[in-house]
Amino acid sequence: MSEKFFITTPLYYVNAEPHIGSAYTTIAADSLTRFWKLFGKESLLLTGVDEHGGKIESTAESRNINPQTHCDEISDKFKELWTKLNIDYQKFSRTSSEKHNKVVKSFFQIVQEKGDIYQAEYKGLYCLACEDFKNERELINGKLCPIHQIPVQEYSENNYFFALSKYANKISNFLKDNPDFIKPKFRQNEVEAWINEGLKDFPISRRSVKWGIPVPGDDTQTIYVWFDALLGYLSTLLSDEEVLDLDFDLKKTLSEFDFWPPSVHLIGKDILRFHAVYWIAMLMSAGFPLPKKLFGHGFLTKDGEKMGKTRGNIIVPQELIDQFGVDAVRFYFLFNIPFGQDGDYSEQVFKETINAYLANRLGNLFSRVIKLIENHCESRIPLMPLDSNSPIAQKALGLSNKVKEHMENYEIHDALKSIFDFVDEMNLNLTEVKPWNLFKSEEKTDHQIAKLSLVETLEGLRIVSNLLYPFIPELSSKMLSVFSLKETNNWEELSKWSYLQTGMSIQNPGVLFGRLK
Ligand code: MSP
Repeated sequence: MSEKFFITTPLYYVNAEPHIGSAYTTIAADSLTRFWKLFGKESLLLTGVDEHGGKIESTAESRNINPQTHCDEISDKFKELWTKLNIDYQKFSRTSSEKHNKVVKSFFQIVQEKGDIYQAEYKGLYCLACEDFKNERELINGKLCPIHQIPVQEYSENNYFFALSKYANKISNFLKDNPDFIKPKFRQNEVEAWINEGLKDFPISRRSVKWGIPVPGDDTQTIYVWFDALLGYLSTLLSDEEVLDLDFDLKKTLSEFDFWPPSVHLIGKDILRFHAVYWIAMLMSAGFPLPKKLFGHGFLTKDGEKMGKTRGNIIVPQELIDQFGVDAVRFYFLFNIPFGQDGDYSEQVFKETINAYLANRLGNLFSRVIKLIENHCESRIPLMPLDSNSPIAQKALGLSNKVKEHMENYEIHDALKSIFDFVDEMNLNLTEVKPWNLFKSEEKTDHQIAKLSLVETLEGLRIVSNLLYPFIPELSSKMLSVFSLKETNNWEELSKWSYLQTGMSIQNPGVLFGRLK
């Protein structure tokens, strides 16, 4: 992995307020970014909104306000939610910005000069919710979109087309040469199957949509929302000054930009096709460097059922945070769902998970050790040389590498699991050593053994507190405050055994994590 880490979330549609699906991708992206920061890498998280197209145009119309005002409002809602969820993003992309508008037009012209854009008549069936064309054979009952279950619309226009078919072999060869390009692996197989079925050129402009970026040299049409939005990953990296300058040259500016290409685009499985096929072909056509990886995560359901407004079973992320706290929300979705697979939310499993892991395993271990240190060691770390060959030390030393390996493979749930396996080991060790009994003994050596078990546990908890920072930053900061520490971005220091100083006082944080009722 290179020294820089640049991750993107999808740019979310502003037709409605943010939902748990968008929150899920963004929490995962944030934990990955924070993790690589912890590792000392320069990291960049880009998120944002996708504002153009027929769907948003008609939502604004139904609200009787102009599309820009509508987009400004919803865009602010996304930002509010990201603040509430502790998302540490560096760039927020807005596709209605002037800068983005200019980048999209420049890109269109580069592809046009390459000879990959032509005009033709298009007839097809369109799903407004997907903002995509559908084949008749994939429709439910011959008329409903298989993803959104809404009727598709007949569509017939003279449009500008992108010569996607020209890139089928090139993408196919690229995937063969890069077998780990799309993760999880089974999604790469899906994409290969689509390409083998054949790729058709597709229209990249619309006459009927007004809310969009005009085609350069033909303002009777606007650019298709996907051909516009994907470029938000790139336009947002550039400054207003350089893009709005009269001499702006997209190709040259990009080649000088050291964060391009992205380390990974994190997306939901439903938009894999747009990224793995359309986007890759677009970049190939323009001659721009390709992203290093695509990761397609699964879909969330509630109580085993698909979520939807009409079903009345959507999860409102703000409400969940207000009820259970931000770290509980982050932890549940990161820990309970193997990243890449579909996952479910139910209030009962949520509470059971949070109580079992945050309140019991972690909270109890902290309170046990702190109480013993307060009662028997004057709230200070006892003088006790640590042996880095002890079983706990060996496990602690192996833990940070294990977590790093899982994070390299986007196994966020496994990274968390290995941290909690270690917490279990420490709980078990204390239960076996029983320092509370040893302190009652007359023998001095018993006291020494008890103290050793406490110092080892504290050292282990310091490592755990740091390792948990990317996933549950607030709780981790509270845990680190026990040692009067803040999160580090020095991996060696984090993984070190015998870091804590003898005599250092231990701060009691009170209840670390209260049980959910
Ligand atoms: N605007 C496009 C993305 C353009 S990227 C240049 C878009 N937006 S979206 O708002 O509809 O979806 C954004 C993300 O939310 C997608 O990654 C999608 O997979 C995800 N989710 C939507 N519903 C979801 C669940 N129920 N569960 C998990 N994620 C889901 O597509």
